[in-house]
Amino acid sequence: MKAGFTVGWRFHIGTAVLAAAVMGWVAPFALKTAAAPAAVPEAPTFTKDIAPIVQRICENCHRPDGVAPMSLATYEDARPWARAMKLRTSIGPKAGVMPPWYVEKNIGIQQFHNDPSLSEDEIATIGKWADTGAPRGNPAEMPPPKVYADHTAWAIGTPDLIVKTKELTVKGDAPDWWGEIPSVPIGLTEDRYVAALEIKEVNDVDAHSGLNRATVGGRFVVHHMIWRTQVIDPTKDQSQDPLSFLLDEETVNWPVHEVGRNADFFDPKSARLLKAGSSIVSDSIHLHSNGRDTKAHLEIGFKLMPKGYTPTYKRAVFGLGNGVDIDIKAMEPNQQLHAYTVLQQHTKIISFEPHLHAPGQRMCLEAIWGYNIQTLNCVGYDHNWVRGYDYADDSAPLLPKGTILHIVGYMDNSPTNKNVPDPRNWQGSGNRSVANMFIDLGMRVALTDEQFKDEMAQRRARLHLTKNDYVIGCPLCTVIPPPAPAKASGGPQQ
Ligand code: HEC
Repeated sequence: MKAGFTVGWRFHIGTAVLAAAVMGWVAPFALKTAAAPAAVPEAPTFTKDIAPIVQRICENCHRPDGVAPMSLATYEDARPWARAMKLRTSIGPKAGVMPPWYVEKNIGIQQFHNDPSLSEDEIATIGKWADTGAPRGNPAEMPPPKVYADHTAWAIGTPDLIVKTKELTVKGDAPDWWGEIPSVPIGLTEDRYVAALEIKEVNDVDAHSGLNRATVGGRFVVHHMIWRTQVIDPTKDQSQDPLSFLLDEETVNWPVHEVGRNADFFDPKSARLLKAGSSIVSDSIHLHSNGRDTKAHLEIGFKLMPKGYTPTYKRAVFGLGNGVDIDIKAMEPNQQLHAYTVLQQHTKIISFEPHLHAPGQRMCLEAIWGYNIQTLNCVGYDHNWVRGYDYADDSAPLLPKGTILHIVGYMDNSPTNKNVPDPRNWQGSGNRSVANMFIDLGMRVALTDEQFKDEMAQRRARLHLTKNDYVIGCPLCTVIPPPAPAKASGGPQQ
């Protein structure tokens, strides 16, 4: 990280500006809505102070039937984990932190959809509770238990359409396997657009049997699925040109499913097409045994846009990464990889999604436009928890054509990185988890001149930006266009 890139966003609230100056960034709309931060209580108790945090964040996974190895829902559940809760919430945005979300809060953009991270005060409250004997507190102050419909609740809300893949069996002693799975018709009879997407593996692993390893990888066997939806035309002989679908308008590629990966929310103006009569097609699924015979299938949940919706923006299709000459030395922490691309169109960045493998520790995304060099984000990386970070609407970068996007990957191929099986090995590029990738798989849309100007005008209005503000990820947002000649008043612009 280079000094001088951390930029503040001047705002109207005095104390917030001060805090922002110290932190190096400001959350524009969070500032306007957030009440004064709850201070850390003198003597935190489970019922009054910890249970509300657990219910809001941790219970999504740490409840009976949840994906996590233990429940934290009641005092009895949580008490034995008090010290571990303190440790896992306080280590900063890197492998091991709970909840698993790795955005660095001292640099770059800070507003994301579905950000589950804890505030500094909440982290301090958990720490103080653990340090003071983890008391229960007054049972009357315990919030009523949260009711979960069932353990298959969806982060995108109840899907409008769920498509299930055929069941797969992975033997306990099976080697890794890559290949094709039978395609499954999605059953839509009209074209619809997709607002959000989530994929779950449903299997017969008993999470609480104690037999599986207490990791996400031990619970699931489908490690990734690269997939598309495609209208399969039986009259076309695809064996002649297996890549013909790449040019086919009716084929849509979707975000890769990976174990531990979160849901996707598409830009409301650029929802993705799900063609009538198409099928889920994957010729690259990676199965990895968890040590016992397991039956599993994937459930693909789609949240649809209302009927009649049409997208305003086109997807921007370009690569950002280096798949050719990755060179990761043995037994060395803190190695860097760099890759660049030049934007050929005005671009709105919808999400940032570092795709690294086991040695991956961190990735930064930087935008260079003329003399503007901004770090848009730096995020930690844990190969057990692949995250995509969807920007909130008013913080998605709006970058002019010609901007250079630069990613920096930080790799730790040393014994301190527990995800690396044997750091004595040199590592290069490849598909397998013991080989490497270095890509930003984020989603982006392309904007015309008009759309680009409109997006910036709307953002200026919503965030009350003036020419004195500094906006991370939108170098032209504060360039106030001159008034239209007919309406010119001659007064200074503010
Ligand atoms: C997205 C699901 C998810 C959320 C949300 C989540 N956890 Fe976890 N947690 C897990 C999983 C899965 C594991 C085991 C694998 C791992 O450690 O990464 C785990 C492990 C832990 C451990 C370590 C257990 C051990 O064996 O040492 C602690 C402590 C913990 N979580 C606390 C929390 C707390 C506190 C919160 C809320 C602030 C939280 N988690 C939120 C899924 C989650």
